[in-house]
Amino acid sequence: KKVVLAYSGGLDTSAIIPWLKENYGCEVVAFAADVGQGDEELEGLHDKAIASGASECHIVDLKEEFVKDYIYPTIKTGAVYEGEYLLGTSMARPVIAKAQVEVARKVGADALSHGCTGKGNDQVRFESTFSALAPELTVIAPWREWDMVSREDLLDYLAQRDIPTSASATKIYSRDANAWHISHEGGELEDPWQEPSEQVWTMTVSPEDAPDKPERVTLSFDKGELTHVNDEALSPYQALVTLNNLAAAHGVGRIDIVENRLVGMKSRGCYETPGGTVLMKAYKALETMVLDKAALKYREQIGLEFSHVMYDGRWFTALNDALLAGAESFAQKVTGDIVVKLYKGTATVTQRRSPNSLYSEDFATFGADDVYDQKHAEGFIRLFSLSSRIAALKDQQK
Ligand code: ARG
Ligand code: SIN
Repeated sequence: KKVVLAYSGGLDTSAIIPWLKENYGCEVVAFAADVGQGDEELEGLHDKAIASGASECHIVDLKEEFVKDYIYPTIKTGAVYEGEYLLGTSMARPVIAKAQVEVARKVGADALSHGCTGKGNDQVRFESTFSALAPELTVIAPWREWDMVSREDLLDYLAQRDIPTSASATKIYSRDANAWHISHEGGELEDPWQEPSEQVWTMTVSPEDAPDKPERVTLSFDKGELTHVNDEALSPYQALVTLNNLAAAHGVGRIDIVENRLVGMKSRGCYETPGGTVLMKAYKALETMVLDKAALKYREQIGLEFSHVMYDGRWFTALNDALLAGAESFAQKVTGDIVVKLYKGTATVTQRRSPNSLYSEDFATFGADDVYDQKHAEGFIRLFSLSSRIAALKDQQK
């Protein structure tokens, strides 16, 4: 028997390797995805997996695929979960789980495993992807089975087996990082009345310490895809890294929210999405130039619906395909340039232009014009409000 484990090198998944071998009598193949979480997390991962008892360790580079095939489509839908969360962890799960299934097929595994707890969203996102892509494979979720509850328990478990670990008993926060964001949960954040301490934040400088001079960045889009940052042609992943560096230095992209988890409870989390915040703002600003009122309203509805599809781990579904197709259709118009000003935690759109622009100074001007006859508005309003007029006249007759 062979199990492919989504392995991060952290304490939880390090303990899962020997636990799977002992409790399922299986060989464990470690699988790690590079979704841009940074070198510190990936360094030495292979040797660490083997030292923990894995027979093999596969590290798959998903950085470009993640940004191009998961983040960009999500941006086109405009999805923001519960008005604030830019879905960084949610977007990474389907691409990671899909690659994990591919490794399982390659090595001829019977089962898939992960280190998500039984209380969170991630278990749902992983296992929904497994269901959709590999219904024949068994899923093992150790956190829902074993009786270990604390970091001390896990450290003891490894120590008893002489498995080396650099993990410490005190790790305050539960974090999840990728090219788009880093999330922070746990520790003092579990008290929603507690302001996050500065040590929560790892990706951005504090807005208080950000430069006193604003910086402008130009984003160029072609049919909804970001192609250039400050006139430099960049791959999707490279463009995001560039935006992250620019925006993080100005303290852009921090949020502190309480959200509804799919499994029912509320959780409090802090998120840093520097480049993504700028990218989303710029995209939406360009949409305001090229989509008319009805189109924009419908795109907003797609975004609301899609935010739940994405958050709830329903990427490999018919609804997802339909929503993405709708968003892609609107995105065909989203071509042009946006300038965003970064300053002390804020990202403000200051300039916009597009070859598909529906904005017309001739029509919009408060000055004299010869394209719009103000008299036409009278008949329009008369008919637009006719049903209200009929209802009111009826009331007066009573
Ligand atoms: N609450 C966020 C979400 O559900 C972040 C989850 C973080 N996951 C983690 N394994 N630390 O998308
Ligand atoms: C976990 O519980 O494994 C992380 C948090 C989440 O999935 O929501």
